[in-house]
Amino acid sequence: MSAVLIRGGTVVNADRAFRADVLCQDGRILAVGEGLSAPAGATVVDAGGQYVMPGGIDPHTHMQLPFMGTVTMDDFFTGTAAGLAGGTTSIIDFVIPDPQENILDAYKKWRGWAEKSASDYSFHVAITWWSEQVRKDMGTLVNDEGVNSFKHFMAYKNAIMCDDETLVNSFKRALELGAMPTVHAENGELVYLLQKTVSEMGIKGPEGHPLSRPPMVEAEAANRAIAIADVLNVPIYVVHVSCVESAEAIARARARGQRVYGEVLAGHLVLDDSVYRHPDFATAAAHVMSPPFRPKGNSEFLWRGLQSGNLHTTATDHCTFCAAQKAAGKDDFSKIPNGCGGVEERLAVIWDEGVNTGRLTPSEFVAVTSANTAKLFNIYPQKGSVSVGADADLVVWDPAGTKTLSVKTQHSKGDFNIFEGRTVRGIPSHTVSQGELVYVQGDLRAVQGKGRYIKRPAFGPDFGAVQQRAQAHMPTAVAR
Ligand code: URP
Ligand code: ZN
Ligand code: ZN
Repeated sequence: MSAVLIRGGTVVNADRAFRADVLCQDGRILAVGEGLSAPAGATVVDAGGQYVMPGGIDPHTHMQLPFMGTVTMDDFFTGTAAGLAGGTTSIIDFVIPDPQENILDAYKKWRGWAEKSASDYSFHVAITWWSEQVRKDMGTLVNDEGVNSFKHFMAYKNAIMCDDETLVNSFKRALELGAMPTVHAENGELVYLLQKTVSEMGIKGPEGHPLSRPPMVEAEAANRAIAIADVLNVPIYVVHVSCVESAEAIARARARGQRVYGEVLAGHLVLDDSVYRHPDFATAAAHVMSPPFRPKGNSEFLWRGLQSGNLHTTATDHCTFCAAQKAAGKDDFSKIPNGCGGVEERLAVIWDEGVNTGRLTPSEFVAVTSANTAKLFNIYPQKGSVSVGADADLVVWDPAGTKTLSVKTQHSKGDFNIFEGRTVRGIPSHTVSQGELVYVQGDLRAVQGKGRYIKRPAFGPDFGAVQQRAQAHMPTAVAR
């Protein structure tokens, strides 16, 4: 493999920033230091005036997802290529078995679909039903396949929603295995009821979507999942936290000493629910995702969560459906396929709204765009760190570069851009994946099938360490 020397930049890790060159060879970082010389044949990148950061890790994407009667526009190649164009060098996607489907069969199916990935990828596996076989197969996934996180959809009744029995059994099993349970926190029964109520009020358009999924519906599920995790003494990761109420639930639990982690989507950080009142159906429907965009004020609270350390990661939930697919819900908002894009724009949007505003330092930016995800899913410092021996997945970041985000210039196959027209300052000039330059100043060189499946080892015995605090619920001994 060829070598790449990134010269003259400022390396930014989650713990510190410092002037250094970075030499990549054979897919790894070979050296980090001042005045490195280029080996024969190396490509030299001039990073003067720029930052050299770990490539972004998006812990929440859905490429080629069969969902709500259709399949997302982006497959694993187009979606990961779009990510590389935006500086994201790894994704963690989801295997989502149908209820009663064997979870190992589903896992193998997704592994096959993902072989065309241009960047590295990994999988959370959703637990959508429960049986002894599921319990056993979770063990195989953790011990043999490098899956260390399981997803639980608390919404999507009559589809992939899992009930409390499944949640409890799966969380308990995850703890035994040293795997992180994660939840999509929305009360699916309430969503089901409110969808009917809103429809009976005569509201059929996309404006009905947020009305059927108010913040308290999310907060109830977040509180319930956190409480179950607390009783079982297992850590928990809440995906796409969108509102004050569920962010507060996480902050409260953390203040009690519970290991609860929260993820925020780039979209939830910058958009609000006015998008659903757009007079054009296609535009409003293009924003239909769950949880929905929230009233103004929620975004600022999410930023505070990232700043304070009560929320930890940023993602996109990249899940692209085109206008023709969204039209399935023309007369019934509950049938609009849920999902929006963003894998290409996440880093730039978070830099522009986070670092340029002073909300985040560059190191905090690295923490919430890669390092924290790598730590929480046990692939640090292989990913999420510019250090010797780490994977050479890097983004060279031009803090002065600007770009107006648009569907016209995006690489995703989606036909909409939720950040349309937003001019950002701070963009990738180069992306390095596995030590190769895959994006060079607008020239995307993504290679289909180049991405590798990344195994994530189980957490060690400390993962389920009994927490010494007032709210210890599991009976340990009976006092007589
Ligand atoms: O609306 C969304 N978020 N679609 C993808 C599935 C999910 O809930 O994550
Ligand atoms: Zn979700
Ligand atoms: Zn999702």
